[in-house]
Amino acid sequence: MCGIVGYIGEQEAYPILIKGLHRLEYRGYDSAGVSMINAKGDLNVYKATGKVKALEDKCANEDVTGSIGIAHTRWATHGEPNTVNAHPHLSQSKNLSLVHNGIIENYKTLRVMLEKEGYTFCSDTDTEVLVQLIEYTQKKGRCDLFTAVQRALKNVIGAYAIAILQKDHPDQLVCARKGSPLVIGVGTDARGQKEFYLGSDATPIVEYTKQVVYLKDEEIAYMDRTGKLDIVNLQKVHQTPEMHTLSLSLDELEKGGFPHFMLKEIWEQPNALRTCIKGRLHSKSHDIILSGITDHKEKFINARRIIICACGTSWHSALIGKYFIEEVAQIPVEVEYASEFRYRNPVIYPDDVVIAVSQSGETADTLAAIQLAEQKGAFLYGICNVIGSSIARATNSGTYLHVGPEIGVASTKAFTGQVITLCLLGLAIAKEKHTLSDDMFHMLVDELYQIPDKIQWTLENNKNIDQFAQMFTYCRNFIFLGRGYNYPVALEGALKLKEISYIHAEGYPAAEMKHGPIALIDSEMPVFVIATRDRLYEKVISNIQEVRARGGRVTALVTEGDTQIQKFADHIITLPDTMECFQPLIASIPLQLLAYHIAVCKGKDVDRPRNLAKSVTVE
Ligand code: AGP
Repeated sequence: MCGIVGYIGEQEAYPILIKGLHRLEYRGYDSAGVSMINAKGDLNVYKATGKVKALEDKCANEDVTGSIGIAHTRWATHGEPNTVNAHPHLSQSKNLSLVHNGIIENYKTLRVMLEKEGYTFCSDTDTEVLVQLIEYTQKKGRCDLFTAVQRALKNVIGAYAIAILQKDHPDQLVCARKGSPLVIGVGTDARGQKEFYLGSDATPIVEYTKQVVYLKDEEIAYMDRTGKLDIVNLQKVHQTPEMHTLSLSLDELEKGGFPHFMLKEIWEQPNALRTCIKGRLHSKSHDIILSGITDHKEKFINARRIIICACGTSWHSALIGKYFIEEVAQIPVEVEYASEFRYRNPVIYPDDVVIAVSQSGETADTLAAIQLAEQKGAFLYGICNVIGSSIARATNSGTYLHVGPEIGVASTKAFTGQVITLCLLGLAIAKEKHTLSDDMFHMLVDELYQIPDKIQWTLENNKNIDQFAQMFTYCRNFIFLGRGYNYPVALEGALKLKEISYIHAEGYPAAEMKHGPIALIDSEMPVFVIATRDRLYEKVISNIQEVRARGGRVTALVTEGDTQIQKFADHIITLPDTMECFQPLIASIPLQLLAYHIAVCKGKDVDRPRNLAKSVTVE
């Protein structure tokens, strides 16, 4: 969704801001803008709709000088994506310039109040209300910007991350957050003086410094050219900045020779998953060490139930997690769409464990769902990829995926990272609860350890999927079928295709076909069936025959060495053998590749599909 970049120091701000906006492009946006104060004290604002490149083109002949600035990529919520609604927004006197991520829920009431005070508005946005409110508060209270922001935000309901420049004080930058992430990078300039960077995440910052402060909810920060960093909360209590060192490297943010981040991330999966299990899964001692579980083992041993809240792809991984945890740890698991859960009045017991699964750790619905669970007394566990993200901070315990930054909007390595983490979690609980025999526990540990190699095999042996995908480029509908552990894989296969190729696709439990969707089958309908050798193998063969009998074109994902299904399927994709419960980790790989190559054949913007955002920070 929206992205914020900021800088104050001795360097020219514009190149840092533009590069930062490019780094944040993956989050999704529809307009961009930048604002700097130059040496003469002019506050300049430039905005453009569309790509950051359009903003750069617009700025090519403008005065973009100045060593302090803020910039923004906007994903429209209030008001259409045009240059008026794009950020930064100026206050009435044009003394303040502000960028904002999030949604101000009471902006209409505030706007009416400000209009009565003589303020006029040019845009439809809630953000313009915010900058006017800060100016109004500053003038009324005759105070400095830092104080005005603290006072103004007390009247604001909603979520925000903001950064503000003040024309007549070009030596200071003020920012604040509540509900939307904001990271402050603390660097050192050529003269040894502290300089500050801002980012919605660490990606625009890592190039300049590894030292960061993750601003916490309801904190307001002041930075200036003397190197001063002052943080207070909304209660005006001073906070000591907690410095963190980023482990992120610049290479991880580049395509590394791949044409798209998505393809790079698909191929990164074997290594990413090795990193994910490193230090946690011990093949020699057949052990699992997951500190997030061990440190709170009583909570898991005594859990009446586990509820997993998630959205999109993370919801699919949660479903696989449910099957696995119930099987190995014998605890009932419910999987909830966070967006539904938060607006019901769900029954939550104090001995429930509520797990949030989220790649970004910033998904607004998932965050709200766990906040609700917390109010009802549940123990909260987070499974996130982004270090220091809101969900990671809001939970009592958790496990990071450690699969590296995922830039492509379509989740791939984070999905398999979530699945493998949920498997680790299930086994760690099973160990504490003694729900598995030693032999079975060892077998599962050993097999899970092999999974990254088996994914590598799958990637190497399915290199021709690009040619195969060409056959399907012009199909208008797809069906993906699976049963048991492979049913969520079918859902995920359909979602991947929809997201990046804009082809309508449905994922279904194979046996449910005859209850309705089989009516869709004809010779125009490609049907992908996950038919690996497992408990439901024979049943899936019957489902394939039902599809074939209606003229459907079947592609079956089969276990290496399978000879039966060839008789019934038009095409075969071969997968290495593994235990049924780990099959999703393997079977999802060719479906990711298929979605990717179809989207490429159709000429789509694979990494930044239309209308989608990487991190959905609004509900
Ligand atoms: C995945 O391909 C999607 N872009 C989307 O469904 C995503 O999984 C969902 O928005 C949840 O995001 P999160 O994992 O960051 O919470």
